[in-house]
Amino acid sequence: MRVLGIETSCDETAASVVALREGAEPEILSSVVLSQIEEHAAFGGVVPEIAARAHVEALDGIVDAALANSGLKLADVDAVAATAGPGLVGGLIVGLMTAKAVAAAARKPLLAINHLEGHALTARLTDGLDFPYLLLLVSGGHTQIVLVRGVGDYQRWATTIDDALGEAFDKTAKMLGLPYPGGPNVERVAKEGDATRFAFPRPMKGSAQPDFSFAGLKTAVRQAATAVAPLSDKDVADICASFQAAVSDALSDRVGRSLARFREEFPDIAEPALVVAGGVAANKAIRAALEEQCARRGFRFIAPPHELCTDNAAMIAWAGIERIRAGLRGEDAFRFVPRSRWPLDEVSAPVVGSGRRGAKA
Ligand code: KG4
Ligand code: ZN
Repeated sequence: MRVLGIETSCDETAASVVALREGAEPEILSSVVLSQIEEHAAFGGVVPEIAARAHVEALDGIVDAALANSGLKLADVDAVAATAGPGLVGGLIVGLMTAKAVAAAARKPLLAINHLEGHALTARLTDGLDFPYLLLLVSGGHTQIVLVRGVGDYQRWATTIDDALGEAFDKTAKMLGLPYPGGPNVERVAKEGDATRFAFPRPMKGSAQPDFSFAGLKTAVRQAATAVAPLSDKDVADICASFQAAVSDALSDRVGRSLARFREEFPDIAEPALVVAGGVAANKAIRAALEEQCARRGFRFIAPPHELCTDNAAMIAWAGIERIRAGLRGEDAFRFVPRSRWPLDEVSAPVVGSGRRGAKA
């Protein structure tokens, strides 16, 4: 089975072909990702209209490149899978309409994929992981712990009650005058800093509620920055290092709670696993804290390669393969209307105050 995947939910235009042969490991035949970071950098964040236009201009060429790199023709693929939500609606329309046109013209089945399902199932593409497992999704738009029970079978165990973690990094960077995107720059500068200089709060640490919160930490960073202004390079580095330490500590505590719950609910799984996905999973300090938490509780820690943790189309093609294999094609994708909001777990009620204001999913 070979599936062409298309991803346009935020600021990456991506296409990929993934193949699965009976009895063999899945194979990414091609994965092309065009980042729009430079087009948005001047504005300090993703501008939806610029993103949608950039997708329109690039997508045809990206799909052609993905097919060419895979060595296949459109006629050779078995299905087309496209991100249909959640995300910026302009980009979603571009990707899904393109996929509808391509699939209709080539007479191929079409699948409308939830972007978060792409992140959730990536560890099965890279590591052949069996269900059930826990997913920690930490990106610019989401901070969630999800129980992945099967294809299309997800249960959200924790979410942020205010900012997403990537958003907290991006806002901290902005306050300190560091360029967009904030996360990698905060991490770079933090390396030179003293993580003990500022005692930032660890929001929700020790709380019985399993959720995350980062807004208070952001306020504490602003207060510290105001108190010591004008900021020297040393001050900025110390704030970044202290912020990163607080985030790692709080995240590790919150994740630990859900690991304990998983142990209780699945006592028979000998080696349970935590999978991380999303751009923030690239952060080495955060990874180290999570690895330590997993080791302490006897969990495998699985972090897919960076290019498969951040937004890409291979995960969308793979989700398509998983859905076809599970007989879960969903409703007629040719009639599917893109959804800017589309929770993986439609049952869990929204947490009060959880504004997912970030552009990214
Ligand atoms: O997964 P991603 O590329 O896009 C989605 O949100 O889907 O994640 C982008 C987010 C941004 O907020 C960015 O600042 C953050 O991930 N990020 C990082 C690092 N690299 C990217 N945050 C902390 N440390 C990093 N090294
Ligand atoms: Zn994403």
